[in-house]
Amino acid sequence: MKPEREQWSSKIGFILATAGSAVGLGNIWKFPYLVGENGGAAFIILYLICVVLVGLPIVIAEILIGRTAQKNPVGSFRELSKSNPFWIGIGLLGVITGFIILSYYNVIAGWSIGYVVESIKGTFENIDNPKAGGDLFISLSSSSFWSVGFHFLFMVFTVYIVYFGVTKGIEKAGKILMPTLLILIILLVIRGVTLEGAQKGINYLIQADFSVITTKTVLLALGQAFFSLSLGMGALLTYGSYMSKKENIPSSAISIVGLDTFVAILAGFMIFPALFALGMQPDQGPALIYNILPIMFNYIPGGYIFRIFFFLLLSMAALTSTISLMEVITSFVVDELKTKREITVIILGLIVFSIGVPSALSSGVLKDFTIFGLTYFDLFDFIAANIFLPLGGIFIALFTGWFWSIKKALPSLLEGADDFNPTLIKTWIFLIKFVAPVMVLIILLSSLGVL
Ligand code: TRP
Repeated sequence: MKPEREQWSSKIGFILATAGSAVGLGNIWKFPYLVGENGGAAFIILYLICVVLVGLPIVIAEILIGRTAQKNPVGSFRELSKSNPFWIGIGLLGVITGFIILSYYNVIAGWSIGYVVESIKGTFENIDNPKAGGDLFISLSSSSFWSVGFHFLFMVFTVYIVYFGVTKGIEKAGKILMPTLLILIILLVIRGVTLEGAQKGINYLIQADFSVITTKTVLLALGQAFFSLSLGMGALLTYGSYMSKKENIPSSAISIVGLDTFVAILAGFMIFPALFALGMQPDQGPALIYNILPIMFNYIPGGYIFRIFFFLLLSMAALTSTISLMEVITSFVVDELKTKREITVIILGLIVFSIGVPSALSSGVLKDFTIFGLTYFDLFDFIAANIFLPLGGIFIALFTGWFWSIKKALPSLLEGADDFNPTLIKTWIFLIKFVAPVMVLIILLSSLGVL
């Protein structure tokens, strides 16, 4: 007899787990530095436009495909396309992308746990300038033992949760970690905005300077929306496959996208007011949270404890994301090869850990080992985030709008949502058929340098 497929035990469980996938390093690490480098509020507005016009429609489509087929990405496309090899290939591309992203994402997630440990040890206490903070970051991340060790530890956490399955593992983690994360982030925001001189940072976030917007900025915003919403590789599809047909997809999707966006903006308010209050520069790029922040806490009353909170928060946000990536590949193997979840997760964890080791060494011993001028880490990030995710996104939109077709997708969408505002449904159809594929095609071509 076929074992019952697990289902989320509640709507809020699904929303928190899925928002947990979306809320991650992308929100807390990447969004603030993109805002910092691209003109503050102007970038935020642009980002919001991308989220509403492209992100939300594809989030709905991805969840819908999964919920309709109740399978992993490959199984879902196989079922809904009646075994068309092209679409099965698109599902497979998603699973492969999951392997790649998890392998390097887990490395940065490992650093965040490493920073919790260093914060507790008091490593940052006597460091008083960003340059020294940067040197410390380089010395930590280039140590093979430190970097690979925390990469391993983080993989153990991820495996541990996915091991227990959908309700007892992933849903439970989301229900505990997401509210804790929100509380911690609000605490840190209050700490930041009440520092003397914080107003400058607040102004930076709410005043828009459109003169700095170029086509590159638009592309950055769109790419960030994709990554931050976990779009384009079947993570939302897989989570949707555990959703009951009684639930309302559009309204859940709005909550998930809303939470993700809210946390990204809160992360801005957590970081910039404090940064400005201390007279530090906002345009530090990717180094912002590992180089500058640990130092920033030295100038804040209660900094020792707030620093630990900050890196704990970062680790928790990353963990709810790594488990979603792990669940995609696990559900694929479990569904397709009929293996047992427990042993499958452990083996996959070891495989992904191994694939990630060169990424963990990319800041150290493998720093000078480059392919097309990129380190192993950067190459993986570029291929997955800038090529495979947009490609997956285009095909999810085209599949829903044209191949599987609105005629079949719509009745399935309306299950559990038949009272949803009809104008919004019509808008979704227009966005998924035309706007989303075209806009994503533009990002893809430009990240390949064609445009
Ligand atoms: N969205 C997460 C973040 O912002 C990262 C992530 C998790 C992801 N699962 C994904 C990105 C699937 C793309 C695809 O950090």
